[in-house]
Amino acid sequence: MLKPLVRTAIHRVTRLGQPILRERTRSLTAKEIKDPSLQRLIDEMAVTMVNYAGVGIAAPQVGQGMSLFLMGFPKKNEDLAEDEKHEEGIELTAVINPKIRIIGSEKEEDWEGCLSVPGLRGLVTRFKKLELSGLNQNGKPFTRRYEGFPARVVQHEMDHLDGKVYLDRMNDLTSLAYTDETVRE
Ligand code: NI
Repeated sequence: MLKPLVRTAIHRVTRLGQPILRERTRSLTAKEIKDPSLQRLIDEMAVTMVNYAGVGIAAPQVGQGMSLFLMGFPKKNEDLAEDEKHEEGIELTAVINPKIRIIGSEKEEDWEGCLSVPGLRGLVTRFKKLELSGLNQNGKPFTRRYEGFPARVVQHEMDHLDGKVYLDRMNDLTSLAYTDETVRE
């Protein structure tokens, strides 16, 4: 007998101009977290993120006004261009109802792009270290510290949950560029 073919759906990522990207998200209840539909949404967000070659994805980017994001990227991925390789890899992580606490006052500037603003990138100043707390995919609380690029991804995704995008965080729009116009060594 043939097994039913089950595929996890890939969403079309919402782009700037979709009102949901500018709205504040709502927290998820314990009941919602246990619901199979949320578990399925998390799986779909994971495959969507990988399909779009993103390092993070927030629920509004798949049309859901929920306080939830995913992040994950391989260590020194050889498929990436030299300036997109990241020393610090991170396992695929889903965070529900996240909160951050900035550690110290150190900041750094680096390039950011966003699946909702395809093709562009710009320099954004972010805090260097932070502590992320929230619930994991199973609804269990966790707290983890991040530094450098992963801390940047967390701040970028947290902004999405507040209806913000990285363009709002740029001090100077002159660095904004189409990625494929950027000269690479
Ligand atoms: Ni983004």
